[in-house]
Amino acid sequence: MPGLPTSPIFNHITIKKLHPTFGAEISGVDFAHPVPKEVFNEILAAITQFGVCVFRNTGLDDARHVAFAAQFGELDDVTPYTAGGRAHRLSDVRLFDVGNIELDGTVFALENVRREWNKGNGLFHVDSSFNPRRAGYSLLRAHELPPAGMGGETDFADVRTAFDELPSALKDELREKDYIAAHSLWHSRKTAAPATFADVNPDDYPMGRHRLVQRHEASGRETMYIAAHIHHIEGLTPEKSQALFDQLFHHATQSRYVLRIGWEQPGDLILWDNTSVMHRAVGGSFEGKFRRDMRRATVHDGSGSAWGLNERSQVRQGLP
Ligand code: OGA
Ligand code: MN
Repeated sequence: MPGLPTSPIFNHITIKKLHPTFGAEISGVDFAHPVPKEVFNEILAAITQFGVCVFRNTGLDDARHVAFAAQFGELDDVTPYTAGGRAHRLSDVRLFDVGNIELDGTVFALENVRREWNKGNGLFHVDSSFNPRRAGYSLLRAHELPPAGMGGETDFADVRTAFDELPSALKDELREKDYIAAHSLWHSRKTAAPATFADVNPDDYPMGRHRLVQRHEASGRETMYIAAHIHHIEGLTPEKSQALFDQLFHHATQSRYVLRIGWEQPGDLILWDNTSVMHRAVGGSFEGKFRRDMRRATVHDGSGSAWGLNERSQVRQGLP
């Protein structure tokens, strides 16, 4: 078929497929040294095709994790989350602190409000779609994990395949209407923890505007850019907007499109492409009986759709 890239050939890395339509475990990468160009190019080809790639027991520390992530492009940082004066626990502002460990090294107390914020990560989402420039790749590394069998996996949803398999009349309608969705950090926080965020009105904060149906530039495949951050779809009544969002979100998160990846040991790293898959945390970090120290480097999208319909501003959203 025209436009479809042929399957890449991998000479330097080994691929184990994890699901019929997406997801791969990659071995054969030596993380003790900067990843050479020819190996890195195969990793890029793999993430383009598979959407999510797992690297087991990388041995990466914070500095090498950041350096590996920087090979993919310009990195985002946590400064919007610390602007209110909260200290950052990690050595580098380019590592997002997404586990459940407090500054003093203890697990979040039951009443810690960050538990409430983290609940939003349990909804299928993409990273930073609410910011003017969205995230492209995310690289999440386990530093400390709950005991085996106690939860804390990460789920992924194959949105490109989900889009392909929508009824063709609906796909045609979506393409023709070319809807724009407004993404809000506060909307997903509020959906996941309504009592905590009862007084927050997402309309009071900036939202990220992106086309709903898009072409994933790297693979050439059509996809939807959806996430729990979507507050509304422009041009529809609130009821119609909610109904369309629910229909598409429900479709894309059916079990046949979902891959659950377990974390096996500290040093495991999962790389995903926020513009072709959604993800969510499964228990663990917010149920919080066990320590789960997870660190994420986030690469600003470098594709032509990175800024969506947003002004190219540096104003990013964060939690206080
Ligand atoms: C993230 C995230 C999920 C998890 O790091 O962006 O959503 O399982 N993490 O910790
Ligand atoms: Mn996330």
